[in-house]
Amino acid sequence: MGDDSNATTSQVNWTLLSPTQLANKVDAARCAIQAIKFHQPTVAIVLGSGLGGLADAIDHAHFIPYDQIPDMPQTHAAGHAGRLVLGHLGGMPVVVMQGRAHRYEGWPNQAVEFPIRCMHALGARRLIVTNAAGGLNPRFRAGDLMVIDSHIDLLWDRRVRHRQTPRPRSGNVYDRATIENAKQIARLSNTVLHQGTYLATLGPTYETRNEYRMFREIGGDAVGMSTLPEVKAARELEMDVTAFSVITNVASTDEPQSTTHDEVVECGKEAGPKLQKIICELLSMWSGEPD
Ligand code: HPA
Repeated sequence: MGDDSNATTSQVNWTLLSPTQLANKVDAARCAIQAIKFHQPTVAIVLGSGLGGLADAIDHAHFIPYDQIPDMPQTHAAGHAGRLVLGHLGGMPVVVMQGRAHRYEGWPNQAVEFPIRCMHALGARRLIVTNAAGGLNPRFRAGDLMVIDSHIDLLWDRRVRHRQTPRPRSGNVYDRATIENAKQIARLSNTVLHQGTYLATLGPTYETRNEYRMFREIGGDAVGMSTLPEVKAARELEMDVTAFSVITNVASTDEPQSTTHDEVVECGKEAGPKLQKIICELLSMWSGEPD
């Protein structure tokens, strides 16, 4: 971001951190969070556009605005409160991001991944990520849910990173057992939960119908502007990852249509409780498992 005159000071701070610089930043953020509230979460949850309502269900919730955490990237996107919530959900100690920073806001991958590294440093070993997405699969309807079982990353981060080498991908990215459990929970509560491929694009403009057609042809079931930097960082940290999309609009490849962020946030709010139920039940299942 160093050459961008619109970049904020904190965005400039993210210019190509070495692994040691990054580890120091994570540790400073962890210390700041623990100084405000000592909490050892085992599950981290990221709430996407319009999905922040889940935070209301958290027991003994303690809220920490992102601006109280050193180097935590701020979000300006509507529908994102911008605070960390510490507490319990479904009997599990959780840390929840009520809102996330996006690449389209000017943050590099390292910054978007940073909160995941912080939540891992607090103790989280599982990650649940949520997002709002446009449905590419013609079977999808607005308000449906999708559990992600694969992805296509078009968020290319072109910046050369410090001493990077090709990174191995360890096994399945998305936890297979949790996908099956989520589908079972959805079936029992008559909730439509598709399983499919999430395609991430930089945005911030919603797509033309030709772009929607291309994304469908290369294998996307839903398209959004987030999630993959967080998922990749979590896998690098060997966290178990589960990710859900709320289909907030359906991409028509035949008719011109416009999508607005307000519609996306509104639909996210309406469908949010169905996703909340699935997440709470998954947490209850995990809380019954031996350590
Ligand atoms: N495209 C990209 N991102 C989105 C969409 C979409 O149609 N809907 C919600 N997030």
